[in-house]
Amino acid sequence: MGDGFPRFCWIVLSWILIVSIHQVQLSEPQAAAAGCDYFQGNWVFDKTYPLYNTTDCPFIEKEFDCQANGRPDQLYLKYRWKPTDCMLPRFNAKDLLRKLKGKKMMFIGDSLSLNQWQSLTCMLHAFLPQSNYTVHREGNLSTFYLPVSCQI
Ligand SMILES: *[C@@H]1O[C@H](CO)[C@@H](O)[C@H](O)[C@H]1NC(C)=O
Ligand SMILES: *[C@@H]1O[C@H](CO)[C@@H](O)[C@H](O)[C@H]1NC(C)=O
Ligand SMILES: *[C@@H]1O[C@H](CO)[C@@H](O)[C@H](O)[C@H]1NC(C)=O
Repeated sequence: MGDGFPRFCWIVLSWILIVSIHQVQLSEPQAAAAGCDYFQGNWVFDKTYPLYNTTDCPFIEKEFDCQANGRPDQLYLKYRWKPTDCMLPRFNAKDLLRKLKGKKMMFIGDSLSLNQWQSLTCMLHAFLPQSNYTVHREGNLSTFYLPVSCQI
């Protein structure tokens, strides 16, 4: 990875499926420091959504590509989560990549987490479609590398 690309940073997003995770009782969600409970809210229509198109995401798993599987409507793609007491910042790939520079992020969970992991990688790919990403899957562990120019 390093040779010839000394100015490149690597972002690693990994996914592990742990079958029994759904049996783990998570503690009560903590209220956000600012007093906003992210878990209280609604799905609101946003005409600027979706944040990526699955036809442009070459590594999305077939099971998660509702459009390719023949779902006829698209309205469901245009909703975002709005907590009652605050605004969530809009997804900003550049910001996220800057914050993750040189770091790894791991998703551990059930198929819902797999869905979220796939969405995140597709959103990042939509921002850097030319990036020479790699996806590697071995058993229940998938690893996604996204080389990012340090200039972003
Ligand atoms: C995704 O792109 C395809 C091909 O350009 C297009 O037909 C489809 O409507 C797009 N989907 C969305 C949700 O914009
Ligand atoms: C993309 O990465 C692969 C594997 O690391 C490498 O063989 C290939 O030369 C790279 N291509 C470009 C255009 O950087
Ligand atoms: C992956 O998960 C499945 C259950 O979803 C399990 O049966 C299988 O043994 C796991 N494979 C590995 C390599 O951990």
